[in-house]
Parts: sequence; structure tokens; C-alpha cells
Amino acid sequence: MTAAAKREPYKIIKKEWPERYARGWHVLGKADSFSAEPQMLEYFGTRLVAYRGEDDGEIHVLDAYCPHMGADLSKGCVKGNSLLCPFHAWSWGADGVCDDIPYAKKIPDKAVIKSWPTLEKNGLLFVWNDHENGEPIPEQEPSRSEDYYSGEWTDWVMNRIPIKTHCRELVDNMCDMAHFGPVHYSTVKSFSNEQDGHVFVQYMVGGHEILTEGDCPMTSVATYEGPAYMTTTMTGMMDGQPVTTHLLVSHVPVNTGEFDINFGVMMKKNPNLTDKQNQAMVDEYTQSSIESFQQDIEIWDNKVLNDNPVLCDGDGPINMVRKWYSQFYMDRDSIPARLTEHKTHITVEGPTVAEVLTQMLEKSTAA
Ligand code: FES
Ligand SMILES: [Fe+2]
Repeated sequence: MTAAAKREPYKIIKKEWPERYARGWHVLGKADSFSAEPQMLEYFGTRLVAYRGEDDGEIHVLDAYCPHMGADLSKGCVKGNSLLCPFHAWSWGADGVCDDIPYAKKIPDKAVIKSWPTLEKNGLLFVWNDHENGEPIPEQEPSRSEDYYSGEWTDWVMNRIPIKTHCRELVDNMCDMAHFGPVHYSTVKSFSNEQDGHVFVQYMVGGHEILTEGDCPMTSVATYEGPAYMTTTMTGMMDGQPVTTHLLVSHVPVNTGEFDINFGVMMKKNPNLTDKQNQAMVDEYTQSSIESFQQDIEIWDNKVLNDNPVLCDGDGPINMVRKWYSQFYMDRDSIPARLTEHKTHITVEGPTVAEVLTQMLEKSTAA
């Protein structure tokens, strides 16, 4: 046998992820799902508590374990804007500073707990994670969804989906053109990606068995603003009606091997339908998109993290999205410019999303 004929089996490298979570805004749920009743949240390798202040009406997020003797503050109660520990009734302000100990003459200087920066926007509650404990980066604030505030769209229909793997698997999806056929039974007519700073976009035109009908192409523009807040705008056809939806596929890490997805759907109301009919459509669409998403989960549940994938020429730019994503795990001062510079990549050349939307508009005005 010649030396060239002997082919060594490839070894998959499974990186051990350090205990570190991406810097940026993460969605914790719909803002109106938080009240003055403290809510326990297990994220970023620890336990958090979220509650709405009685006086300021704002949602506050604190570390949940009390520095005094370790009780769980999510089992406590809200008084004004502060949270009372259930064990010895120390009171913790929204800024994390202890503001009262009912039986002490002096509050210890060390009685400070981590208070997480929060943001209420687009009907969602966001929390800022930062391994360097820095303030939120102003340019990375999620953009305002005019559609959410317009009254022409339904509210988010939200589901929380737990997944047992590292959240980079979800981010890989942005460039994984080749999985749409085998996993989602959809055909890809065009597929491209674009990155700029903290933003990464996937543009796709295709067909989909569940999410559109007939020869009406499905268009999809999926945008990450930062490491975890992802929204997708999709157009297609359902029950003979054109539909436009916004999907929220926003994850938050539980630890380095688990994450939750806050999966939301918002649909443009069809003015020819009643509110009830519109709600039925968004509910049906939500079920279909969760079914489609289950197909990804089935794969993730049974695969390993592969840090040196053998890629072929038809694959999407998996390494491009991985490099872009790695910026959020680095210290702010050490991010190389090449990770954030503007870049585009076309994997499948074909009709663009803009061209398809213009054609659809022309068709509907002609009809
Ligand atoms: S453990 Fe919280 S007040 Fe004592
Ligand atoms: Fe997928």
C-alpha cells in the first residue's frame, strides 16, 4: 500500500469551555411576566432573583444568595424597592446595597450584593452580563422594534425551551446552510451572511414544508444584536394568506452545558380577520415553528461540540460566525479588529430577500 492511500481518521477536538459567559444583553422573558412577587432564575452558573419595585415600578435583578448566611432571596418579599431576606430579614436595595438590618446598630460595609443592569424594551426584560463587571456598552443596546409598539402586530407568544448543550451550537445555526434540507425539509434558494461590530445577520430565501405554502417562497432575515438577542423576520403563506412574523430566538445560559431559549412569535395582524382569528393564526404559527425548532434540538441532544469541524466548499461560513461570537468572551480591550470588521459571505447565490419581497408586493397590488 502506498503512503498516500493511508488515510488517518480525523480526531474531533472537544474544547473545554471555561466558566465564562458572553458579555451582552440577554432576554429573561416578557417584561409583563415579572411582578412584585420575586422570581427565581438559574442563569450564568448561579441563581438570580427578579422582582418589580413597588415604588419605582422597575424590574430589578439581584444575585439570589444572601451574603449574610446564604439564604435564597427569591423566597423573600418585596418592600418598596428593596428585597427582604426570608432568614434574618436583612433588606437589600435595588442597587444591591443592604439598607436595613432590623437588629443591628451598624450595617457592615461588605453587605453589598451584585445588582444586574436591566433593560425593558420591545416588551422584553433584558439583563446585561459582563465578566469584567462593566457598564452596558451603549452601542449594543437592542434596537427598538417599531412594529411591537405600532398596535398592528400581536403581542409576543412566548415559550421557554430548555436545551442541554453549550449555547454556541445555537449560534452556529446562523451559518449552517446545509442543515436546512435534512433537518427542516426546506429548500435553500439563496443564503448569505453579514457581520458588523456586535451584529451578525443571516439572509435566506427558500421553501418550507411547514412555514409556507405552494410556490410562495419563504424569506428570512435573522439578526443577532450581541451574543444572545436574536430576532428573525419571516414572510410566507399560511391558509392562503400572506403572513409576516417576527421570531425571537433569544438564549440565556444556565451554565456552560445548558441554556434556555426564550422563543417568541409576533405576527402582523391581518386586517381582514378578527382579533380572535389573528390570535389563532399566531398560535398555529407558534406551534409550527416550535415543531421546526424541535428538529434542531433532537440533533443537539445527540451530538458533541466539534471545535475543528471538517468543512467542505458548499458549507456556510461556520468559522466566520464562531470568530465573531468569540469577541463576547474576550476582555473588552483585547478584541482584535478582524472579529468586528464589516464582512459579507455568500454561500448560495440566488434571488435576494429584497427582490422576493418586491415581487410579492407587486403581485399583491396587481391582484
Ligand atoms: S441569610 Fe439573609 S438575612 Fe440572614
Ligand atoms: Fe435549524
